[in-house]
Amino acid sequence: MKISVIGAGAIGGNLARLLSAAGHDVLVADARGPEAVSAEVLAAGARAVELAAAAEGREVIILSIPFGRQPEVADLVATAPREAVIVDTGNYYPFIAGNIRAVDDGQVESLWSAEQLGRPIVKAWNAALAATQQTKGLPAGSPGRIAIPVAADSAEARSTVMRLVEDTGFDAFDAGVLADSWRQQPGTPAYCTELNLEQLARALAMADKDKAPETRDRLMRHFASLPEWPSHEDTVATNRAEHS
Ligand SMILES: NC(=O)c1ccc[n+]([C@@H]2O[C@H](COP(=O)([O-])OP(=O)(O)OC[C@H]3O[C@@H](n4cnc5c(N)ncnc54)[C@H](OP(=O)(O)O)[C@@H]3O)[C@@H](O)[C@H]2O)c1
Repeated sequence: MKISVIGAGAIGGNLARLLSAAGHDVLVADARGPEAVSAEVLAAGARAVELAAAAEGREVIILSIPFGRQPEVADLVATAPREAVIVDTGNYYPFIAGNIRAVDDGQVESLWSAEQLGRPIVKAWNAALAATQQTKGLPAGSPGRIAIPVAADSAEARSTVMRLVEDTGFDAFDAGVLADSWRQQPGTPAYCTELNLEQLARALAMADKDKAPETRDRLMRHFASLPEWPSHEDTVATNRAEHS
């Protein structure tokens, strides 16, 4: 597919690399310009382009920029074809984004993003840590393959992105409509806990919308209070223990 990745950081860079390695035609664009995109991201054939040229004529646009900055890319997204699938990987952390009143008051993060962009979106690749996505992908059918939830209102767009999630080395889980995507956001049992398909289904079902923001903020305060940032494995273990 003709895919553009906006934001060439940890998540966007990795997706550009994996999706081009899987045979897709991938463009990648970042706020800091094409020269800021690393050689590693481009090694499998992705091409770095200027932001302004990133959306026109593309079938899928993956936004991998910090949550809260979606308004900055609304004009760019508007240049994508009307039928293009727009994917958002973002997660709301008030201590990074600053407080966003509507989300603090209970609006589902993905619905807030879609509103800022003026387009329907698909939520995917948000509920796995960067290190999980970079190092733990496996071929389809491998035992222990980690699952990633995909939520969208359009069943067609959701299926398209589920196929792409599979191409990045993970089982794709149909997480239903966007209004339910709070179940895969920070502070929930499905978030960054490296679960397989069956475990993920249970985790999404047991999520508690009212508790999630408090859990999200408490876990971040805990990680920040440690003498050094925990290892990837310790982060996943702490996330899992929170909901066991
Ligand atoms: N890191 C994780 O473990 C993880 C896991 C799952 C989901 N996510 C989510 O995925 C998103 C990306 O995370 P990340 O860790 O990849 O962040 P990151 O490493 O900080 O990368 C974000 C990239 O987006 C660029 N950017 C910012 N505003 C932009 C704009 N208006 N147009 C184009 N590019 C822009 C940034 O450039 P500048 O540096 O110049 O601002 C940066 O290169 C976030 O919403 C995050 O919550 C992260």
